[in-house]
Amino acid sequence: MSKHPKDEVFEHDFDGIQEYDNELPGWWKKLFYLCIGFAVIYILHFHVLGTGDLSHTEYMKEYDPNYTEPLVEVSGGVFNRYTSPYLAREENITPRVQAELNNLLNAPFDEHMYRAMSKASPEQLEKLKAIFPEIYAQFESGAMAQPMQPATTSASIASTLTEPLTDASALLDGKKTFETQCFSCHGMKGEGGIGPNMTDEYWVHGSDMQSVLKTIYKGVPAKGMIAWEKTLSPEQIDNVASYILVKLVGSNPPNPKAPEGQKAE
Ligand code: HEC
Repeated sequence: MSKHPKDEVFEHDFDGIQEYDNELPGWWKKLFYLCIGFAVIYILHFHVLGTGDLSHTEYMKEYDPNYTEPLVEVSGGVFNRYTSPYLAREENITPRVQAELNNLLNAPFDEHMYRAMSKASPEQLEKLKAIFPEIYAQFESGAMAQPMQPATTSASIASTLTEPLTDASALLDGKKTFETQCFSCHGMKGEGGIGPNMTDEYWVHGSDMQSVLKTIYKGVPAKGMIAWEKTLSPEQIDNVASYILVKLVGSNPPNPKAPEGQKAE
């Protein structure tokens, strides 16, 4: 096209309105080309290469910093990503929410019952009590005061003690813990109740220091024994385990619960 000199009027005429045929200003054209360049980079970055997060992923990451975008199956070539992020992804749950759901689904039956009982109306609770008396007894005993711990993956415990502590201050601290945290299930004098008798020589989970420590650390969630590692410090657990083994075992409290488990050698 031939370049029109500045301020040359076009030949055409609309009802007496005429126009100049001027070049677009340089700043305008630069902006225009910049926009085209930006669009190309934008499309490559977000929709083709996938190096940038689309709004859906950005949202998920804000909700869960560990979210990783699932790989989308590519069926339509490089521009496949250029579909709505909502259509391209099947899931709309983050891994954290999924983990919580799995936890819930895999929880033992008792735990589901505890949840139900904690939300039940008095009449519903009566019915549940009639059908599941044992679970109700545990629920009522306050086993639920501490939410059940999900099974811990690591089986290791923080204490390496193989023999109980015998110094008076440790035993006194252990007694204090026992009489504030453990008595509700094991009895004030360790005679047993919901939990086993701590004064006889019979043990369900082993009588040596490490076994007792481990039971206290990890609990027996399915049976209503709480995992104490989150509530008590390692010293407190050392002390209460020592108190059980040194002071309670062999004592003869009134109203002892019948022995459970195997006799210690
Ligand atoms: C909510 C009730 C409850 C509380 C509170 C509780 N326990 Fe237990 N405990 C149990 C039950 C139930 C068992 C039996 C688990 C089994 O049969 O597998 C048990 C078992 C144990 C055992 C193993 C006994 C054996 O025969 O092997 C030890 C040790 C123990 N508890 C220590 C403690 C200590 C220490 C505390 C306090 C820090 C405590 N428990 C608090 C319910 C409780």
